[in-house]
Amino acid sequence: MQRREFLSGMAAATAVGTTSSSAIDIISNSLMNDESARMTASHFGPLRAFCGADLFVGSMTPVLDKVGGKVIAELHAGAKLKQISQNGEYVEVEYVGFIPGESPIAYARVGVLEQDINVGDMKTFKVIKTHKDPYGNEWDEVSVKGFVKKDTLVADIDVVHKAGQALFEERCGSCHALHAYDEFGANVWPSVIETMISNSALTPQEVETLNRFLQSKAPIE
Ligand code: HEC
Repeated sequence: MQRREFLSGMAAATAVGTTSSSAIDIISNSLMNDESARMTASHFGPLRAFCGADLFVGSMTPVLDKVGGKVIAELHAGAKLKQISQNGEYVEVEYVGFIPGESPIAYARVGVLEQDINVGDMKTFKVIKTHKDPYGNEWDEVSVKGFVKKDTLVADIDVVHKAGQALFEERCGSCHALHAYDEFGANVWPSVIETMISNSALTPQEVETLNRFLQSKAPIE
């Protein structure tokens, strides 16, 4: 993939991902009427998680500094977490991901723009170590610890991918044939989806669920 393409994909993903706290409120409110969030929620079932287990974000969810505390970050569908402890309807979790430069958004893999988490304050990210992507850009490996509502989490990433696949098949093939997963790279799909948001009347939750699914299928280069 060309570097220019990578950077424009990055700019689009950053534009989509940069949420101020008021944008976070709007997103949270829009979740109330969100079909895909309900669809995902119905798959949750009882979550039998244990310490050290991997969990995944089923639908966009705030991270609190403590139970009943303030919002320090927003996690996106598909982000992987480790459970530290349980506290009633909350789970204490640790997120580990990667940030390019001074980005307030962390991604799941070095060089791939699968958006996992946004922070309001860069100090929320604890830097673990620094990696280099194939273009020589530096990515800091970062961790965030906090509390999230248990009912927004799932034990299996397939739940998120299946919801994304259903959206793709139901909402992207009515005007033209479904495009192939590998027609665009993982860093380009988000900007393609961006141009189809109004065509498909996608909510912010649906956009990220769809992006996560397509990015899991698309080539990296
Ligand atoms: C309401 C009709 C409609 C729906 C629904 C729709 N599209 Fe499109 N799509 C179009 C039209 C019209 C074009 C060609 C003109 C353009 O590029 O805007 C297009 C073009 C495209 C292209 C080619 C763009 C390029 O740069 O090569 C892709 C890829 C695409 N759509 C993907 C999708 C995806 C993914 C969805 C579901 C989120 C979707 N479309 C839903 C109408 C639609």
